[in-house]
Parts: sequence; structure tokens; C-alpha cells
Amino acid sequence: MYFGIEVFTILQWEHNEKKCGCKKRGYNLSFLMMASNSVCTIGFVLLLMTLSVDDYANDMGETAFKENCGACHDLKQNSTGPSLVYISDRYPETKREAFLAWVKSPGKKNPDMIQMPAITYLDNDTLAAIHLYILDVSKDQKQEGEKPKFAPYKPPQRPYPQVLRHYLPFTSPASIAIALNSELTVVWDTTIAKLRYVYPTGADFDGEKRREENAKAIMYTEESDVLFSFVDNKEIMFKGYQLIKGEPEFHYQVGNVEVKERIHLGSNERSFVREFTITGVKQDVALTLDHSSPSSIRLNGKPLTDDNVHLSPEQVSSFSIEVEL
Ligand code: HEC
Repeated sequence: MYFGIEVFTILQWEHNEKKCGCKKRGYNLSFLMMASNSVCTIGFVLLLMTLSVDDYANDMGETAFKENCGACHDLKQNSTGPSLVYISDRYPETKREAFLAWVKSPGKKNPDMIQMPAITYLDNDTLAAIHLYILDVSKDQKQEGEKPKFAPYKPPQRPYPQVLRHYLPFTSPASIAIALNSELTVVWDTTIAKLRYVYPTGADFDGEKRREENAKAIMYTEESDVLFSFVDNKEIMFKGYQLIKGEPEFHYQVGNVEVKERIHLGSNERSFVREFTITGVKQDVALTLDHSSPSSIRLNGKPLTDDNVHLSPEQVSSFSIEVEL
């Protein structure tokens, strides 16, 4: 009996020291205290075994928590994620399954916070140990502060338009892609001074590997070899492009004709505008806008019914084409 109490004292001390609120020990202990001396010895051994398994789980929980969760979860304050006090309130021991499910596939709850990344590489035992650890450390703790400690994380906004130079399929290597927004990227070929096609921004258009996939994703193509009749059989000299408020303006020369084409987003997220400034034209110009997809085209803001358009020298000096996809 005396032996039992001695053990109890030692355990109690260990227990406080490590803040490891394990009820099993108390239970084992009363069992121990009621038992006869011989049973007591066996009980003691069993008790030690339980103890070390529990301690192990707890250490594992603490380590795994610190390695995988601690960067975003503080004990009492919301930081990048909610506090452990909040979490243990939401997910008591009976909600173990829900806790595991959240960590593997988090939802989006708090509008002030980023979405938690899914943590799928930890097994259920580790997550259960983390859960125990969270419940353990936040016991009798109170939430502090209301606001997240850090400003909510915002993913960096890609500045549009963005001019990209990489090897694109279905065009010459000297082509430029202009991401106008998160939906439209226009590909302009500097070899033939022509808009080649439009593809969805973010689609994997970086070479010949995904030709079929890429061909399907293309949203718009102009099918004639040249846009302007004055280009026919004449050499095109690409003179470069400049960015005006981030929008590219391509500059090229055909004989005596100088063309500037500035490309920017149109009147909505699914449309783009090409603004032309042309000098040196003396005769009417035919424009061929035959294209591959259902889209509406506006010339100087007026809907076109015919893809073939004639412009007088005055009209051709400055005009815009808006393509809505
Ligand atoms: C990169 C930061 C980050 C990491 C790492 C992270 N979390 Fe989170 N966690 C968050 C954010 C942010 C939220 C709040 C999301 C929301 O409300 O939409 C959150 C919310 C939670 C919630 C509360 C869910 C609810 O129902 O409100 C739990 C539980 C949770 N995290 C557990 C964990 C565990 C366990 C780990 C480690 C295995 C972990 N988190 C790692 C950022 C993180």
C-alpha cells in the first residue's frame, strides 16, 4: 500500500511537470492501491507501460504539431490560423474524426484568414497525437485578442497585362504572349506581324509537348495569312514593341506603311482591343478577320457582320478592333 502511494506521488509530480492530463493514470492508480502487494507489482509494471506509451504519444503530438502546424497556430491568439483554444473548443475529443477530416481537406470558414493548406502527408495516428496535444495544452486556457496577429495573407496579384516570352506552340519562336487578365492571353507573332491566337491564361502553353491539348484550348485564331491587304507579298519589318502603361504596342513596317498595334483588355473580361495607328497608306485597305471561333467583333465600337472590311485611307489611319469571346 505504502509502495502504491509512493508511486502515486512520483507520478503526480511527473504528471504536473509535463502538463499531461491523462486520466488513465488515476484509474490505474486506484486499481493499484486496492490491489494486494503481488498484484500491485504487476499493476506497477502495467502502469509504467501505459505511462511510457502515453508520454510517447504526447511527445509525438507536440513534435508533429510544432513541425507541421505551429507556424500558423498559436496557443491563445489567432495568428495566421485560429488559436489552439478555439480549435480545442471546436474539436473536443469526441470530434476526432472531424478534426482529421479538416486537416486533410480544410474548408474555408474565416473570411479574414487564408485557406488552410491541406495536410495529407501525416497519418491518422500522428494527427490523433496532434489533436491530443492541442487539447492538452489548451486546457483551462482562455482566448486572447480578437484580431489576427498578422495581416491576412493575400496571394500576390499578378500584374496584368503581362508580356511573356517563352516557346509557344503553333507559331514562330519569335512570338510574344500577352496575358491581359486571368482569362485571356494573346499570342502575337513578330515574324509575320500578326495576332496568332488567344489562349486561356494559365493554361500550359509552353512548347510542343501538349499540342493536342493546347489546340483544343485555343479560344480564337485569325485564319487568313495576313490581316491587311497592303501586306500581301511584301516584306514585313518588325521594329519592336514598347509598353505603354504596361500595354504592349507593336511596331512594324510594310513598304512605306508604318503600323502600330496596341493591345489591351476590352470592355469586359472576355474581350480584347487592338488599336491601330497606320501611316503611309494611300489607297483603300481590305481587312480580313476570318476567325475560328464564335466571337463578336466590333470595329470602332460598331458590331461587324462581315469579316471582310474595306477601310478608306482616312479610316485606316486610326481604328480599333474589339474581339469579344
Ligand atoms: C499555413 C498555415 C497553416 C498551417 C501550417 C496549418 N493551419 Fe490549420 N488553419 C490555418 C488557417 C488559416 C485556418 C482558418 C481557415 C478558415 O477558417 O478558413 C486554420 C484552421 C484550422 C482548424 C479549425 C477548423 C475550423 O473548423 O474552424 C484546425 C482544426 C486546424 N487548422 C488544424 C491544423 C493542424 C492540426 C495543422 C497541422 C497538422 C494545421 N492546422 C496547420 C492555417 C494553417
